[in-house]
Amino acid sequence: MLAAAGSGERLGADRPKAFARLGDRPLLAESLERLDGSDWIDEIVIAAPPGWEEPAILLAEELGCGKVSSCVTGGATRTDSVRTALAEVPESAVVVLVHDAARPLVGDEVIERILAPLSEGWDGAIPGLPLADTLKRVDAERVVETVDRSGLVAVQTPQAFAAPVLRKAFEGDVAAASDCSSLVEERGGRVRVVEGDPRLLKVTTAGDLDVVAALLAS
Ligand code: CTP
Ligand code: MG
Repeated sequence: MLAAAGSGERLGADRPKAFARLGDRPLLAESLERLDGSDWIDEIVIAAPPGWEEPAILLAEELGCGKVSSCVTGGATRTDSVRTALAEVPESAVVVLVHDAARPLVGDEVIERILAPLSEGWDGAIPGLPLADTLKRVDAERVVETVDRSGLVAVQTPQAFAAPVLRKAFEGDVAAASDCSSLVEERGGRVRVVEGDPRLLKVTTAGDLDVVAALLAS
């Protein structure tokens, strides 16, 4: 599943982030093409920004992404968007992989790393990277404390889950969460962290688009 329904407030483009330009294509094209081309993926459900469902479907057709099975209208939060998309995932799916269109450079290596733990009985697996910088907790501008970095990782998408576990995590009243794993964790799910990928950086601001474009060219 591809979460692409955000508005991209911080990017500040004249259109939703998924349709901002990365080179000469919409940002969404990169992750969509890569997921469609992966042997590990059978079907793709896209959560598109309201009013952008048609352009998303047309883009998938243009790119020849035949695995796209449906495109839903995203909601107010990422959690809402994922919940709506999850409802379109076929009952027969054993594993659901949730990816953010904001991370265009998804590759097969990281997909393989997150899928492996699921066949070993884990409920989910997520890519994480060690933190390089020193972390401080602040109150406005005042430093309150230095946070112990050991045992902390920065988490990315794609995230993979056993389908029934993910469906359960989205049942009932679910508060907005910044990733799917946190909802699974809250319900006691066992989630394993695997090695992330530095190329999976997230496009938040316009400068990030330039960095991703440079990575693509390298
Ligand atoms: N997302 C979504 N539905 C929402 C909000 C976010 O599907 N209502 C998706 C975005 O499209 C993105 C991912 O969740 O791929 C991560 O969100 P973020 O990077 O915060 O994107 P935006 O919410 O679009 O950006 P901003 O917060 O700057 O508005
Ligand atoms: Mg957001």
